[in-house]
Amino acid sequence: MRLEGRTAIVTGGGSGIGRASALLFAKEGAFVALVDRDEAGLQETMAEIRDANGDASMHVGDVADSNFAQSVVDEIVARRGRLDVLMTSAGFSCGGTVVTTNPADWDAVFRTNVGGTWLWARSAVPQMQQQGKGSIITVASQLAIAGGKGNSAYIASKGAILSLTRTMAVDFATDGIRVNAIAPGAIDTPLLRRSFARHADPDPIREASRNRHAMKRFGEAVEVAEAALYLASDASSFTTGTVLPVDGGWLAA
Ligand SMILES: NC(=O)c1ccc[n+]([C@@H]2O[C@H](COP(=O)([O-])OP(=O)(O)OC[C@H]3O[C@@H](n4cnc5c(N)ncnc54)[C@H](O)[C@@H]3O)[C@@H](O)[C@H]2O)c1
Repeated sequence: MRLEGRTAIVTGGGSGIGRASALLFAKEGAFVALVDRDEAGLQETMAEIRDANGDASMHVGDVADSNFAQSVVDEIVARRGRLDVLMTSAGFSCGGTVVTTNPADWDAVFRTNVGGTWLWARSAVPQMQQQGKGSIITVASQLAIAGGKGNSAYIASKGAILSLTRTMAVDFATDGIRVNAIAPGAIDTPLLRRSFARHADPDPIREASRNRHAMKRFGEAVEVAEAALYLASDASSFTTGTVLPVDGGWLAA
């Protein structure tokens, strides 16, 4: 098992990519602390992990709350004695150009997507420094590199996550902490389904998105989880400050 005895925190663990990654980490031997504001979603992930004989805890709250981040990290370190992996998958999009996005939605997207990356790293890094080891996995998007239409707050937030990932990688490289981003393509999750549903006529938008991938299909959450497992494990021991697209060839096409 590739994460035997390790301790991981996965934000956004109640759905989609976070859930699939948490489940894979647990199958590979990690204890996983699941974080999400969706309690029912967390309970489903917990049940899946227990069905696979894994070990996990669940923590309900807003990832943009700094006190919540610190209290979860403190609780997990008190319980497990260490923190090996942090994956920040919680995120959402609101849609809109810079003209049609209202300031409250812009702030909410940045608070969750960027703040929810920064605050959890802020709480996790001191423990990882003490250990001399740790892996932080952020979740950006292929759109942060390629650009995209009608989703300006989200895409800008994902660009910020890429820059934050690189600066954290440089700041903590000599502490033994690796920081890498995953840039998923369109992955079949509730977030993707909600983003299509925002359109008056979603079918052509969905098909154009599917066909924009060189592989002409959407990704599955577990395909992103496999990349997260690589970055979480010692298999990626000389990899830091990188971005790993898991995008069915979107960026290449
Ligand atoms: N699905 C895609 O096509 C796709 C593509 C590129 C990047 N991503 C990114 O992957 C990550 C996971 O997305 P997903 O597709 O699994 O979405 P999802 O909606 O299935 O899961 C996201 C989870 O984050 C939680 N969450 C959102 N805001 C939160 C907050 N403030 N506090 C606590 N929990 C919060 C939600 O409750 C949900 O359970 C996101 O960062 C998303 O931007 C997704």
